[in-house]
Amino acid sequence: MRISEAQIEQIRISADIVDVISSHVQLRKRGKNFIGLCPFHNEKTPSFTVSQDKQIFHCFGCHSGGNVFKFLMEYKKISFVESIQEMAAELGITLEYENQKSEAEQSETEILYDINTSVAKFFSDNLLKEEDGNIARKYFEERKIKPQTLRSFGLGYCPDHWDATINFLNKNNIDIEKSLQLGVIGKSDKGKLYDKFAGRMIFPIFSPNGRVIGFGGRIFDAREGAAKYLNSPESKIYHKGRTLYGLSHGKDEIRRHDLAIVVEGYMDLISLHQHGVKNVVAVSGTAFTDEQVQLLSRYTKNTVLLFDADTAGVKASMRSIEILLKQNMNIKIATLPKGEDPDSFVQKNGSDAFLDVISRAVNFLEYQTAIFEEQGYFNDAAKSAEAIRELVKPVALLNDELKRSFLLKSIAEKFGLREKLLEAELEKAIIAANKFPVQEQIQKEKVKLKKISEADDVKMPPAEFRNEQEIIILLFEENEQITRYLLDHVNPDEFQIAYHRILAHLVYDALINDEALRISTLLEKIEDEKLQEYLLEITFEKYLISDVWDQRKPENKEKRLLKYANDLIKFFKLYHLEKEIMQNHALVEKAEDEEEALRLMKNGHMLYARKKEIEKGNY
Ligand code: CTP
Ligand code: MN
Repeated sequence: MRISEAQIEQIRISADIVDVISSHVQLRKRGKNFIGLCPFHNEKTPSFTVSQDKQIFHCFGCHSGGNVFKFLMEYKKISFVESIQEMAAELGITLEYENQKSEAEQSETEILYDINTSVAKFFSDNLLKEEDGNIARKYFEERKIKPQTLRSFGLGYCPDHWDATINFLNKNNIDIEKSLQLGVIGKSDKGKLYDKFAGRMIFPIFSPNGRVIGFGGRIFDAREGAAKYLNSPESKIYHKGRTLYGLSHGKDEIRRHDLAIVVEGYMDLISLHQHGVKNVVAVSGTAFTDEQVQLLSRYTKNTVLLFDADTAGVKASMRSIEILLKQNMNIKIATLPKGEDPDSFVQKNGSDAFLDVISRAVNFLEYQTAIFEEQGYFNDAAKSAEAIRELVKPVALLNDELKRSFLLKSIAEKFGLREKLLEAELEKAIIAANKFPVQEQIQKEKVKLKKISEADDVKMPPAEFRNEQEIIILLFEENEQITRYLLDHVNPDEFQIAYHRILAHLVYDALINDEALRISTLLEKIEDEKLQEYLLEITFEKYLISDVWDQRKPENKEKRLLKYANDLIKFFKLYHLEKEIMQNHALVEKAEDEEEALRLMKNGHMLYARKKEIEKGNY
């Protein structure tokens, strides 16, 4: 059963985001927008912004944002469908449900999610109900995992037959090719299909919204040559580096406590939940990635790392510390007695003892100092200088001047060193970390460029980057005439930045399918959360600027937009043409024979002629 697109659209049009948000957050008008204190993170000065024109909200502090449904989902912790039902009730609209869409109508990724959901159910049924699952039931019982916990984490078991999953897929007409993509089954060199997770206990991996995106499978006993955990490969819906295990289950508690405890393993996290400690995520045995930190930072800026005390654990925490510091997260490190992991510790000692360990977490300087001490660094003058240099390094990663000097002071005190000496070290470390003091504005632009180029490795000069970005902003201006004009002249595939290509295609598709060009509707079609965030950020930023223009001469708006669009197109075309000219030039230099050189030079003349035309405004 589903609600029709048309009805969702009707609700979207009838609802007013300012009304809805106002009943939960105190908003006041500023320019064209409304601002208030963000309900999704703690703040003292308002960075939560709502646009009535565009029916979207965005917080410049925690980067949450979206349309009216997204607000209700996040604020009330409800699903998309529930948010629609709630709005419908509010507006007095009676919802009519229609039947499931046919497979052809479902989007590709929806199909992948559905396959994972079915397979997860199959694994879970095996564990909870089937004869085959006895062995796994017994295993979890021995590890003191309660049936309720098995259910809430969707744990499962894959029978040890090598064809149980295949048979299940066939019986239910599930696409084999797509199941192969998702890695729930594999294909041998000889073309024979087999179960990937045969004989393993299954830990479904969830997206932050609770959809199954992959699986981890644990073997019973360490077998020769078999990995203890087998994880789903990267797929269209699963990206290990962007996933934090347990976030879907713990995000509310993480926000509530304004703290995330970071552990290594699936079992650690599950065991902690069972003991009532729910503000936890697991990094699954590796160091944090930048993207995982960005994801986590939407929920809290405070973390306590709790990694195993073995060498691998120490290494992972050192690496994680660097990555967390770079993104301005607050970090503390807690340690368990040797030989314990969070699972074994909480099982043995209970949650109070565990929380006590968390409360005794130390800052990263104390942690690293203790490790150096343990390794005997401070018994030897040369080595101790090395250790101090190492300690200063992470301080250089901090963006916060105050925090930096505070930490420097505490190192100086601890080792009885002159602060000046450490400052010199810090200076060196900052240069090494390539952090020259720059104007705040330039820094911001750089961060934005970096954010983009992480998704996409194109190196673009800032002016050209900005040109692309402004075209995108204008495409989302909700002005059909301008959008059409832009897309008549600019091909979505020509954008250098992948994010911009995706966004341009989104608008283009809506245009040719005669769909609404409203940003609040289009947002829902974007799957990548970072991309949603990016779009909101640039839209609101533009809005702050255009506020001023629009109020000055509203009657000239159309004309001005058209002129603006023309300027953007001209710049865009010239940029691409110039690149082409340069490439052509390089080819002339390298030409093998005269004939080819001549041909290329002709081409060069043509390109020049085009350039002249474009400069005159003919394109
Ligand atoms: N891991 C993995 N592949 C492996 C080993 C470990 O992906 N071959 C990841 C898993 O996410 C695992 C985490 O690293 O949860 C921590 O590993 P480990 O401490 O060995 O496992 P535990 O989670 O403690 O599992 P158990 O308690 O069942 O041994
Ligand atoms: Mn363990």
